[in-house]
Amino acid sequence: MTDAIQPAGRGDRAIISVRNLVKYFPIESGLLRRQVGLVKAVDDVSFDLNDGETLALVGESGCGKTTTSHCIIQAQRPTAGEVHFRIGDTRPVDLTKMEKADLKKARRNIRMIYQDPYSSLNPRMTLLQIIGEPLKIHGQVKSQDELRARVSDLLRLVRLDPSTLNRYPHAFSGGQRQRIAIARALSLSPKVVIADEAVSALDVSVQAQILNLLKELQRELGLTYLFVAHNLAVVKYEADRVAVMYAGKIVEIGETEELYTCPKHPYTEALISAAPNPDPDTKNRPRIVLTGDVADPGNLPGGCSFHPRCRYAEDLCKQETPPLMELSAAGEPSHQSACHFADRLSLAGIGAAELTTDRDAA
Ligand SMILES: Nc1ncnc2c1ncn2[C@@H]1O[C@H](COP(=O)(O)OP(=O)(O)OP(=O)(O)O)[C@@H](O)[C@H]1O
Ligand SMILES: [Mg+2]
Repeated sequence: MTDAIQPAGRGDRAIISVRNLVKYFPIESGLLRRQVGLVKAVDDVSFDLNDGETLALVGESGCGKTTTSHCIIQAQRPTAGEVHFRIGDTRPVDLTKMEKADLKKARRNIRMIYQDPYSSLNPRMTLLQIIGEPLKIHGQVKSQDELRARVSDLLRLVRLDPSTLNRYPHAFSGGQRQRIAIARALSLSPKVVIADEAVSALDVSVQAQILNLLKELQRELGLTYLFVAHNLAVVKYEADRVAVMYAGKIVEIGETEELYTCPKHPYTEALISAAPNPDPDTKNRPRIVLTGDVADPGNLPGGCSFHPRCRYAEDLCKQETPPLMELSAAGEPSHQSACHFADRLSLAGIGAAELTTDRDAA
């Protein structure tokens, strides 16, 4: 392992280690398309995705979830930062430095599922073509018979009837289409699946079926998930850990139960308070209404980007951007927050947690 991979995690279970990831888009203006600013879509993001876990990446629209995902699979090249990928005991490889041919091989192991099962499947292709395409591109099948057999197996895997393989996507419902998209994503036997709002476009009852399927497949195949969502209710039952993003940065990351019962960032606290909550222990919590607009990543305020909407903000928050700080003691599961006043959160009753930065701890 290189030194660069160690600070943001505590164990060596990481299959993907994202370090200081940055993606800026230029804002251009005028006939000569002069650059007049930058959209800071992803701004110094670091986290580990541990082997076999589900990590949820949560936040409002435009906070940088999809851009982070795309920079992990190198569908978009990051402006800066590293994405280390490791299988088993092999040495991690930095995907951001890889040439195209090697990247193609590595990408077999990290696949994406998208939100909209209506637009993500080509309507002119049959299920055989849609699900079989990655197998052909990556030279994984030698004959048409083998292709049919592999696609039939994949359809069974997602609980669809293999006799449907010559049909077109329009013959299927939204939930069935998402199963087809999952079969396509699993065709190359990946280790990691990035599900970008994979159930957001579906009815609630269908959402539950797809979430159950994803859980079952995770157990059957030993998959690791990065589960992108803005709906905290979905995440609560799906994720082992949650990373909360705001304006291009991770502002809090920790184990799901701990983060829900004891949030340590005011933004997380507000998101939890806004989510529907059937839990009798916590449903009487006061509701926190977030005022002000969602931060514009092309025109961020100074200091902590959340300060204009934050009920705990003080002058310090306007001046200094808080780093992501470790709040739990050595030996306990990691819980990090980027807030100058993490110890003031009223819902949490955190007490006088001692804040240490990674730098301090090193
Ligand atoms: N190609 C691009 N060019 C310029 N700006 C972009 C580009 N792609 C994304 N952005 C901007 O980067 C920011 C982050 O976008 P991103 O799509 O990653 O957010 P998101 O969290 O996935 O949002 P949503 O929940 O709506 O999917 C937004 O302000 C978006 O407008
Ligand atoms: Mg998105």
